[in-house]
Amino acid sequence: VNNIVVAIDGYSSCGKSTLAKALAKKLHFIYVDSGAMYRAVTLYFLRNQTDLSNHDLIIDALEHIDLNFHSRDYQSHILLNGEEVSDEIRQMPVSESVSLIASIKEVRKAMVRKQQKMGKSKNIVMDGRDIGTTVFPHAQVKFFMTADPKIRAERRYQELLAKGERISLEEIFDNLAHRDFLDTTREESPLTRAADAIILDNTNLTEQEQLDFAIEKIRPFM
Ligand code: C5P
Repeated sequence: VNNIVVAIDGYSSCGKSTLAKALAKKLHFIYVDSGAMYRAVTLYFLRNQTDLSNHDLIIDALEHIDLNFHSRDYQSHILLNGEEVSDEIRQMPVSESVSLIASIKEVRKAMVRKQQKMGKSKNIVMDGRDIGTTVFPHAQVKFFMTADPKIRAERRYQELLAKGERISLEEIFDNLAHRDFLDTTREESPLTRAADAIILDNTNLTEQEQLDFAIEKIRPFM
């Protein structure tokens, strides 16, 4: 029997990771936050002031980046060369640069390779931008999530506020719009709905309703 892969793609801040974590918990699947990987690479490049116009430097840097997940309690704890960076990768400097760095071909190649390895033999749910199109084109179940942009910004604002971040709703709205623009227009595996992905617009859905909807689609494969 093949392992089950659930791919969740969609725009920034529309609840992908919330749904993915809830699914993983309920179904006892492994949760992989692919965005955290791009964010950790971005943090590494920012810290090292890597010259992004130098492709040899980028390739060399990628060889020095070791990424690991703690998947305990299904939170996206990520280790960058052994250091826990889960909080730092959510902060604004990383959010502002990540989509640029995620558009670099070499970066994507390295991340996709890692992600495919993780989904080889285990039941997993992975969220991101190109999971159903590029990473796992044969995933048994694919979701494409969307939500009203104002609602998305509001949700992310509340989340960051709770963590004590000082940031305005407007800044968040602009960052989300900017990332969506870069993510949908880049050359390398842009964000787009896979033809066989199920659309899930959660503007007016509770977390429980989304979970029930998703489980109903996954059950037949279990
Ligand atoms: O999911 P999250 O919002 O944390 O992702 C941060 C950024 O990483 C996205 O805006 C996108 O530029 C990039 N990303 C990507 N492909 C993925 C996951 C994330 O390009 N599979």
